Amino acid sequence: MAKELIPYGLHDIGEDDIAAVVSTLRSEWLTGGPMVREFEEKLSSYLGCKHSVAVCNGTAALDIAVQSLELPKGSEIITTPFTFVASSNAILFNGCRPVFADINKETRNIDPESVREKITEKTKAILYVDYAGHPCDIKALQEISEEHELYLIEDVCHALGAEYRGKRLGCFADLSIFSFHPVKHITTGEGGAVVTDSSELYERMLLLRNHGIDRDASSRQGKDAGYVYDMKFLGRNYRITDFQCALGVSQLRKLDVFLERRRDIAGLYGEFLGDVGFVELPHAEEDVKHAWHLYTVLLRVDRDKFFNYMRHENIGVNVHYIPVYRHSFYAKSLGVKPKDFPVTEDVFRRIVTLPLYPKMSDDNVEYICSKTKDYIG
Ligand SMILES: Cc1ncc(COP(=O)(O)O)c(C=O)c1O
Repeated sequence: MAKELIPYGLHDIGEDDIAAVVSTLRSEWLTGGPMVREFEEKLSSYLGCKHSVAVCNGTAALDIAVQSLELPKGSEIITTPFTFVASSNAILFNGCRPVFADINKETRNIDPESVREKITEKTKAILYVDYAGHPCDIKALQEISEEHELYLIEDVCHALGAEYRGKRLGCFADLSIFSFHPVKHITTGEGGAVVTDSSELYERMLLLRNHGIDRDASSRQGKDAGYVYDMKFLGRNYRITDFQCALGVSQLRKLDVFLERRRDIAGLYGEFLGDVGFVELPHAEEDVKHAWHLYTVLLRVDRDKFFNYMRHENIGVNVHYIPVYRHSFYAKSLGVKPKDFPVTEDVFRRIVTLPLYPKMSDDNVEYICSKTKDYIG
C-alpha cells in the first residue's frame, strides 16, 4: 500500500511562487491593483485573446459571463450534464434554463447532434465544457451557433493550454471561462477568469465583478479623481486579490512545463494500461492537443468495487462526474429523466479518474498501474 494517499490532483507551488506572493503582500496594493492587471494581460497574451477579467473563482467567472449577455429571463442555454455543477448553476443564477444534451462516449464532451435536437425558439446560447482537458467539437458547435444565432460560452476550466486545430482554447467562443483552483493547471488558491475578444462584453464584466459600479477604487484615488461613481448593473463583489494574481503570474510562467509533465504521465498510463482488458483508455482526437486535467478510464468491471479497492490501496481515485441532472436540486427543479441521456448514463456508471498532477512521480504511476492490473487477479 502507498504510505500516504496519492490524491487525484494537486497543486505545485515553488519557492518562486512564494516569493512573488510575499513581495505583493509587502506592496501597497492587496486588491484592485497592478498585479490584477498584469495577470490579466499575461493570460490574454498566452491565450492570444484581447481581454481577460480575473475574478475570485471559476464559478464567479461563469456567472458574470452569462450575466454579461443580458439574455431575457426564461432563455434556454444548452449545456452538458457531464460537468461540475457550477457550469449549469451559472445559467440558473441568471434566470435562464439549462437544457441538457447528451455526450460523446469517447471524449465525454457535449454531442453536437444532441445539441441540435434540443434547440427551440427560446434557445439563446450553448455552454460547453472541454471535459478533462479534451477540446469539444468546436467547429460543429460554431456551425450550429451561426445557423441559429446562438452565443457560445466555453467552460475551459479543465483545459487551460489545450489546443484545437493548432490554436489555444480561449478565443473560439464569445466568452471563455477558466478556474485556478488548486487541482487545475495553474492555481491562485481560488480564482478564475473570463476571456473574450468583445470589448463590449469585457467592459460590462469589469463592472459586474465590482458590484456593477463604473469606477473601481484605484480610479477614485488621487487629487483630481473625485468621489462620484454610478452603479449601472446589479453586481456582486467577485474581485480577486493582488497577491493571488502574483501567484497566477508566477504559475503562468511554468504552465508549459506543467502541461508537458501532464502529457508525459498520460503517456505512461497509456503504456502501462494498454493491455489491461477491463480498462478502456481515454481517447484524443487528431485535431486536438489534450491538456490532461483528468485521466479518466471506462471500466468493464463494477466501478464502485474497483473504486473502493483502489481507495484501500491509498490511491485517490475519483468519479468525475455524477451527471448534474441526478443531483436532488436539479431532479426537483428540472425534472429531467436519466434515461433520456443514455451515453452520459453509461459513461457515469463505468468511469473512474486516476490520479494525475505534475508533481506525481513515475513510481506513483507505476504503482497505480500495477494495483490496477492486480485487481482482476
Ligand atoms: C468544469 C468546471 N467548471 C467550473 C468550475 C468552477 O470553478 P471554481 O471551483 O474555481 O469555482 C469547475 C471547478 O471544478 C469545473 O470543473
